[in-house]
Amino acid sequence: MKKIEHIGIAVKDLEASNLLFEKLFGAPAYKTEEVESEGVKTSFFMNGPNKIELLEATNPDSPIAKFLEKKGEGIHHIAFDVEDIVAETERLKKEGFTILNEIPKRGADNKLVAFLHPKGTNGVLVELCQEIP
Ligand code: CO
Repeated sequence: MKKIEHIGIAVKDLEASNLLFEKLFGAPAYKTEEVESEGVKTSFFMNGPNKIELLEATNPDSPIAKFLEKKGEGIHHIAFDVEDIVAETERLKKEGFTILNEIPKRGADNKLVAFLHPKGTNGVLVELCQEIP
């Protein structure tokens, strides 16, 4: 597992939060993208070397909708860059972590992603992501 690739923040209103983060960083989102299979609309900001992902739910069954209901807006996940997501999920499985999706799936921003269950990581939802070449 390598550097933090991005931090994901759950928001209720993506348009409003895009404006807020544009003010915060002094630059607009470089991309917005809907991931239909996940029921989310996302936007991405770069601030220096750091990437922030904002996530809004697009339907009430979306994991983001459930998160907002339970916890409200705030940090939703931390994503780490990995070179080989299949090898890394296998390694972590052997270490006893619960992988939410053992077969990596296509996430936003051109990545293959897999998530670790937060109950095994001190309450933090961990995303592994590998750039799709
Ligand atoms: Co993410």
